[in-house]
Amino acid sequence: MASKQSLNAPEFLIFIFFTATWASAQLSSTFYDSSCPSAFRIIQSTVRAAIYKERRMGASLLRLHFHDCFVNVRLQNLSQTGCDGSILLDDTTSFTGEKTAGPNNNSLRGFDVVDTIKANVEASCTQVVSCADILAIAARDSVVALGGPSWTVQLGRRDATTASFSQANTDIPAPTSDLSTLISAFSKKGLSTTDMVSLSGAHTIGQARCTTFRSRIYNESNINSSFSSTEQNNCPLSNGDDNLSPLDAGSPNYFDNCYYKNLLNQRGLLHSDQQLNNGGSTDSQVSTYAANPSKFFNDFSAAIVNMGNISPLTGTDGEIRINCRKTN
Ligand code: HEM
Ligand SMILES: *[C@@H]1O[C@H](CO)[C@@H](O)[C@H](O)[C@H]1NC(C)=O
Ligand SMILES: *[C@@H]1O[C@H](CO)[C@@H](O)[C@H](O)[C@H]1NC(C)=O
Ligand SMILES: *[C@@H]1O[C@H](CO)[C@@H](O)[C@H](O)[C@H]1NC(C)=O
Ligand SMILES: *[C@@H]1O[C@H](CO)[C@@H](O)[C@H](O)[C@H]1NC(C)=O
Repeated sequence: MASKQSLNAPEFLIFIFFTATWASAQLSSTFYDSSCPSAFRIIQSTVRAAIYKERRMGASLLRLHFHDCFVNVRLQNLSQTGCDGSILLDDTTSFTGEKTAGPNNNSLRGFDVVDTIKANVEASCTQVVSCADILAIAARDSVVALGGPSWTVQLGRRDATTASFSQANTDIPAPTSDLSTLISAFSKKGLSTTDMVSLSGAHTIGQARCTTFRSRIYNESNINSSFSSTEQNNCPLSNGDDNLSPLDAGSPNYFDNCYYKNLLNQRGLLHSDQQLNNGGSTDSQVSTYAANPSKFFNDFSAAIVNMGNISPLTGTDGEIRINCRKTN
């Protein structure tokens, strides 16, 4: 007779079903330790070389991981998948991927660097390391190369065979978002408000186009007046949509806590940036990070691991793409 602790047959089948559905979504930091231990060195050296050539590339690679994770694709009968390399699929005559969606078109960069990384990794271990995992590792290596924190990357994601143009438009937050919209966009992905504020610190590096911040520098009142006049010089009322400004004018090429110091001085470039310190519930977290860089580094590291856990494809779901731009 079965004891109270053991499962009877129907319960056991239900247990198997749910563990197969959910426990399979577990990632592991040792996933490639025997199948491709050289992947880490290869990815790191390719990322470093790309950043040495162009410092901004570190920012561009970090952003690719974010935009990959925030678009959940429905693959066959599987639940929605997040960090799955969907961002990397090129459009074809019969397929429109995520690259031309509003937040990405003429904005995302680094696809050539990802191609180089993938080719270098494939030369060492054929069809072992997914494109989704390459993005997660390249994001960490970029942050480290620019002086930011390091963290242990969880691995074992597999690549989607499709992508979602429409969800890239709806689920990647817009720079015009107010605080409540930012909070709900992250909450929709299972990320907390604390995660949202620390992940926004990624805007300590990289550049934005005039079109993304024009209304802020001409029309908003919660902005430092010397900052807005400087920015207006490079972002005219008409034309110059693609003119670039650093998201953190203080130290655009270093991953540090200056982003939060800027927010205290009303020097956030995007409307969404300044929303984090505009009299709302997140002001105190901004002040904490402005005063305590190691607290920011610790929280950012924890939050980006959480972001990397957004419904990955694991086990035998999806595939290991050979070329990150197309399905096998
Ligand atoms: C909180 C909501 C967010 C909004 C509204 C937002 C919006 C933007 C916008 C509008 C740009 C400029 C794009 C362009 O002009 O081409 C940008 C750049 C960037 N974003 Fe975000 N972002 C957010 C969160 C994040 C997160 C969570 C990360 C990463 C963890 C991130 C990383 C970056 C980086 C590194 C750049 C610069 C990219 C480069 O120079 O190539 N952002 N973001
Ligand atoms: C999903 O579909 C595959 C075949 O397409 C099938 O083998 C599998 O059992 C299905 N999984 C679930 C959870 O329905
Ligand atoms: C993407 O940008 C290109 C070049 O500016 C433009 O021609 C195209 O219409 C844009 N695609 C979408 C879907 O907006
Ligand atoms: C500023 O706001 C006014 C009124 O809403 C609008 O007409 C104008 O286009 C805005 N200017 C910019 C640069 O966004
Ligand atoms: C404007 O920026 C400067 C330099 O960061 C700062 O000293 C000043 O306090 C800021 N003004 C306001 C109103 O935040």
